[in-house]
Amino acid sequence: MRVQVAIVGGGPAGHLLGQLLHKAGIDAIVIEQRSRDYVLGRIRAGVLEQGTTDLLDELGVGARMHREGLVHGGLSLDFGGAHHRIDLHQLTGGKQVMVYGQTEVTHDLMDARSAAGLKTVYEAEHVSLHDFDGEHPKVRYTQHGINGKEEHEVECDFIAGCDGFHGVSRASVPAGALQTFERIYPFGWLGILADTPPVSHELVYTNHARGFALCSMRSHTRSRYYVQCSLDDKVENWSDEAFWDELRRRLAPDLAENLVTGPSIEKSIAPLLQLCGRAHAFRPAVSGRRCRAYRAAHRCQGPEPGGQRCALPGALLAEFYAGSEAGIDNYSAICLRRVWKAVRFSWWFTSLMHKFPDESGFGPRIQAAELDYLIHSPAASASLAENYVGLPLESW
Ligand code: PHB
Repeated sequence: MRVQVAIVGGGPAGHLLGQLLHKAGIDAIVIEQRSRDYVLGRIRAGVLEQGTTDLLDELGVGARMHREGLVHGGLSLDFGGAHHRIDLHQLTGGKQVMVYGQTEVTHDLMDARSAAGLKTVYEAEHVSLHDFDGEHPKVRYTQHGINGKEEHEVECDFIAGCDGFHGVSRASVPAGALQTFERIYPFGWLGILADTPPVSHELVYTNHARGFALCSMRSHTRSRYYVQCSLDDKVENWSDEAFWDELRRRLAPDLAENLVTGPSIEKSIAPLLQLCGRAHAFRPAVSGRRCRAYRAAHRCQGPEPGGQRCALPGALLAEFYAGSEAGIDNYSAICLRRVWKAVRFSWWFTSLMHKFPDESGFGPRIQAAELDYLIHSPAASASLAENYVGLPLESW
């Protein structure tokens, strides 16, 4: 089989890129190692940047999101027992974020993909990337067919690696073509999902002497809460009661009083712990003329920038097939300019809101000064807001 682009990974990134390419008239296949149900069963982040919601609208897959999602025009920064609202909508000239699970986005993209009759392979085994550096890259995989195991080969112009940090794409990039930069934070996030009404109608980020806490949600009846925990903590150490008690201790008094607790439906040292624990960015994955794998950065604070992450390769591939190779030839540089800004914001917000175990004198005072500045300076609030809703795509 031959396609223009082979997308490895059928999560939100792979499916979004698939839809972008379809819109640009580019022929692509999505190859996913897991089953459709498995992909849809993953617990993922739940807040989308404005750029992502705009993109989903452009692709014609935003209808359910607008019906079921919750638009948030602000958030609360809590410290010293008080709330400080950051008016995202006003500070960004009308932008906002959307509470709508990434899993739901994936669901909508999958539906659109099947409705358009586009090919996705699920449960592909032994996925491998070949001739990565050459003119004719290939993806091979095996699949159970009526005659037992069948071998498949997809030849393409580009392989788009959308299978995450631990996926086969990154592992296949020749050593030396990849540089990793990471920041490991000395703490994690313990997360809980519960069918209780959210304690506040907007997200609340709390800086507290006991550690960071975040009140988020998935809907009017489903809450998502996180508390900063130590790196060696274990979920087994946390009963639901212990979690709620710790959360209550970190919240401002009125929220602590109004917090509705209930049995957890999921509790983990969340995958977000990894996102939070490390920020990765990769420097050129440019090897060979025509084939590049791409990979963006993990981010732990703020809405998920996944949509924007796909917009760029989608646009550059569309340009390439329309006859202009300049963009795709500079893919790494163009992409990394953006990625590092997302990493920078995440690092800044993480540094501002968490308790750093080794810092007791200077660090907390700098945090306090910065928080004070942030809520009193319109310029500083606006900077937080414009990064939080997602920086606009720059021209290249
Ligand atoms: C979440 O709801 O999982 C969430 C929301 C905002 C963040 C991080 C995680 O900054």
